Amino acid sequence: MRFLAAACAVILAGCATPSGEHAAHVHQPAKASADHAAHAATADPRVWVRFPDVMRAHTLTNMRDHLLALAEIQDQLARGAFDKASEIAEQRLGMSSLGLHGAHDVAKFMPPGMQAAGTAMHRSASQFALVAKDASVTGDLKGSLAALARVSQTCVACHAAYRIR
Ligand code: HEC
Repeated sequence: MRFLAAACAVILAGCATPSGEHAAHVHQPAKASADHAAHAATADPRVWVRFPDVMRAHTLTNMRDHLLALAEIQDQLARGAFDKASEIAEQRLGMSSLGLHGAHDVAKFMPPGMQAAGTAMHRSASQFALVAKDASVTGDLKGSLAALARVSQTCVACHAAYRIR
């Protein structure tokens, strides 16, 4: 991310350089953004993390269940079944899921930033579970959706930073 930002800064500085000809000025930003798009498509800033094969397969299986859990939570919210949504979040993604996922075994292969991203996900899911539980009394769908968005954001943050092999 920092690298991309730096690359953009260089491109922008290039655009700001006086070039005399008006047409060139008009043309350059378009070229810069095309270059930037091509660059963004090829450069992958994610950090490689080495996992033993079995752990990698196990982790990816968990990940697919994370996505399934999000889908089930959204479905339950749409039905107004806040209690169910809360339970799925806590058991499959929240702090209660740590044992289920063998999180302790996997965590030791993760760099500290990745561990923190994992913890952030479990915490946010448990927070969502509390909000959704309250919503079963108050009917606060908006608050529940906002809390669920914060869970999704923790998925996105880790995916943006790390990949495993
Ligand atoms: C601590 C980091 C981390 C968190 C948090 C995280 N993931 Fe992942 N996830 C990964 C990594 C690493 C991969 C593999 C990416 C790669 O190697 O290209 C992955 C892959 C996946 C995959 C692809 C699985 C496959 O079979 O290839 C899915 C789906 C997924 N994650 C869903 C989720 C969802 C949904 C959440 C949030 C509820 C989530 N993940 C949270 C790290 C994380």
